[in-house]
Amino acid sequence: MRRLRAVLMSIWLAGTCQAQEAARLAVPEVLEASGFAQFIVPRFALKSGLRISRVGQDEPAEMRFVATDPALFEGLGQGWTLMHQSDPRAMRFADWLRSDIGRKTIESFVAPDGSTFKAVVRSAGSQTAPTYDGDRADGEQKSLRLCGRCHVINNSNRMNGMGATPSFAVLRSMAD
Ligand code: HEC
Repeated sequence: MRRLRAVLMSIWLAGTCQAQEAARLAVPEVLEASGFAQFIVPRFALKSGLRISRVGQDEPAEMRFVATDPALFEGLGQGWTLMHQSDPRAMRFADWLRSDIGRKTIESFVAPDGSTFKAVVRSAGSQTAPTYDGDRADGEQKSLRLCGRCHVINNSNRMNGMGATPSFAVLRSMAD
């Protein structure tokens, strides 16, 4: 009986896995080795119901952890952020990492060597919204012509961006 249940369970699991394809998260080797990604990903998956599979740092992926500044969180002596091209699943993951519960989860991780991670708080300075007085239509055309070959600018070239290039939406979220 127990055996039958296990078999049925695995068939059911196989079915649900096919139903929703996992979003790939590329994880740099140091981050993977620390156990951080393995800790954080299932906790987000549990809350969101989204499936994320971790892949190597050089593999194609919908989102990637990259060492950069300004950072979303800090650990192993450097800053890290989640890079993506406006993928809706990646955007939910990024939102969660910034949320109170996400930040608490980041800070509750302890690596085998005892080191911990820190969620980065946005500086008060970046909260004042910038104002723009340029020509929007001209700006959009120039961006699409000069930068759209690699960067996703907006919905009109969503499918044309280049794999590891941050979208303009991501660039806008950078403090500098
Ligand atoms: C040939 C492809 C290509 C073109 C064309 C291109 N970019 Fe980029 N850009 C990239 C890549 C790849 C990165 C990511 C580099 C990295 O992660 O180190 C990048 C990064 C950036 C960054 C972030 C730099 C940082 O500090 O991390 C900015 C800002 C940027 N591009 C602006 C532009 C603008 C504005 C244009 C058009 C005038 C443009 N790019 C055209 C490929 C391109």
